[in-house]
Amino acid sequence: MKNQQLLLNDIAAEIKYCRKCRLHEAACQGVPGEGDPSADILFIGEAPGKNEDLSGRPFVGSAGKFLDSMLNGIGLARTDVFIANIVKHRPPKNRAPKPDEIQACTPYLDSQIKIIKPKIIIPMGQHATNYILSRTGADFQNISAARGKLYERVWLGRQVIIMPIYHPAASLYSPKYKAAIKEDFQKIQALMQECQREYKVNK
Ligand code: URA
Repeated sequence: MKNQQLLLNDIAAEIKYCRKCRLHEAACQGVPGEGDPSADILFIGEAPGKNEDLSGRPFVGSAGKFLDSMLNGIGLARTDVFIANIVKHRPPKNRAPKPDEIQACTPYLDSQIKIIKPKIIIPMGQHATNYILSRTGADFQNISAARGKLYERVWLGRQVIIMPIYHPAASLYSPKYKAAIKEDFQKIQALMQECQREYKVNK
C-alpha cells in the first residue's frame, strides 16, 4: 500500500492535467493543497486566487498571511495541518465557483480527505461550508449562523468534527470578522487538545 504522501502526489498529478470543467482555461496551474499528509486537522478554502494560481500553493496571499498568523497564534505551523480548497483552479477574476465546477472538482477533495483521514475539518467561508455540511447531511443556512458551531458528522464512513469559520479574506474587510475568526481559532485550539487527549487514552 502506497504511503499517504505518494497517494496525495497522485491526486496532485491528476489535478495538473484536469480538464473536467472550464476553470483550467484561464488558470496558470492547479493548486491541489499542501501540508501534513496525515494531519489531524484539515482547513478548506474556496478556490485559488491570483497568488495561489501563480505559485501553485494554497493561501499564500494576504488572506493566507492572516491564516498563517492565526495558526501560529495557537502553536501550529502550516506543516502541522493540511490546507486545500473545494475548487483547484482559479476562477476568472476571482469570481465564486459555479455549482457545476464545484461538482466536477470536489471528488479530488473527497479523495484527499479519504487519504488524510483528518479528525477535524474547518471549512472556511460560505462555499466550503455549504459543500462540507451538505455533503454530510447537515442543515446549512449561512456562514454567519454556522460559524463556530461544532458538527459531529460521519464523513465518508468516519466520524469527524466539522467547525466552519469565516473565510480569512473576510478579516481584511472588517474588524468584526477578524475578531470572530480569532475567537474561533481559540475553539480550534481546544478541539485539538481534546483530540490529542482522546488519542492518548485510546492508544
Ligand atoms: N482563498 C481561498 O479560498 N483559497 C486560497 O487558496 C486562497 C485564497
